[in-house]
Amino acid sequence: MFIHRRRGWELPESLATPEPIMLGRRALMGGVAAGLAAGATASKAEAETNSRYPAGRPVTPEQDATTYNNFYEFGEDKSIWRAAQRLPVAPWQIELAGMIDKPRKMDLADLLKQVQVEDRVYRHRCVEAWAMTVPWTGFSLASLLKVAQPTASAKYVVFESAALPKVMPGLRSSLYPWPYVEACTMQEAGNDLAFMVTGMYGKDLPKQNGAPLRLHLPWKYGFKSGKSIVKISFTDTQPETMWHAIQPEEYGFWANVNPDVPHPRWSQASERLLGTGERVPTVIWNGYGEWVAGMYADKKNEKLFT
Ligand code: MTE
Repeated sequence: MFIHRRRGWELPESLATPEPIMLGRRALMGGVAAGLAAGATASKAEAETNSRYPAGRPVTPEQDATTYNNFYEFGEDKSIWRAAQRLPVAPWQIELAGMIDKPRKMDLADLLKQVQVEDRVYRHRCVEAWAMTVPWTGFSLASLLKVAQPTASAKYVVFESAALPKVMPGLRSSLYPWPYVEACTMQEAGNDLAFMVTGMYGKDLPKQNGAPLRLHLPWKYGFKSGKSIVKISFTDTQPETMWHAIQPEEYGFWANVNPDVPHPRWSQASERLLGTGERVPTVIWNGYGEWVAGMYADKKNEKLFT
């Protein structure tokens, strides 16, 4: 007997993707495959489509997802996409450091040979209460952990973004303790949803979206997902992160999405979809509770949602 069980990520029927958009998405994913086959992206040619985590929402128009950005190294407004074109992205090295067997620097190209590249459509929710749904290309953070080989005592993974004063005018602002640093626990990093992104919409990741390598933790507010990552390190103590250092009461370490826990400046009850401007209710864990809520069962005393 087929029993329909509503899973954590499933959104109300009214928010489900209408058929023409689904069809469009299939065509789009065909395009993704074609683009990859043509070697269009910094990812491997055989990216598989991972549909384990259905987005349940229409894909955001590419134009909107690539021209409305947060990338403070290039400026504080949303239209930094032109300024970001000055970022040099090839060749790109990533430093693996801290509590690992062999601290070293790796070319991104070499790393990509050691991981399975996939396409995944994820919802992305900014703490400023806007959201988008994006077809990403990348590989699981878990597979990067296998390459890095952290020691058994490592408890946190720290992501450091590029800080290049010559091309990043935002670095002149002394308000921010650059570089942009974010972090998560080893348990979170090992969750299959945690995704290292190298492309979107079947193309190389645009510079404004964090080329050539960014993180995406879809159950957390977007600021947890650093862009243009140059260093990944492992530690046994909870690291300080950039936003937390500036405003600890506004930007906590956990920052999991929760409609019932308002940010001091933004209600989190609903979110505005880029593209249509439609306002829809926010779902706890950004709808990914089925896969992530269990990780926090023993952390009830922590401020999990700010
Ligand atoms: N990473 C860096 N290095 N610098 C940033 O300013 N902004 C964060 C996150 N990663 C940011 C960053 C925030 S607040 C959000 S919402 C997302 O990137 C935005 O990603 P997008 O521009 O691709 O939508």
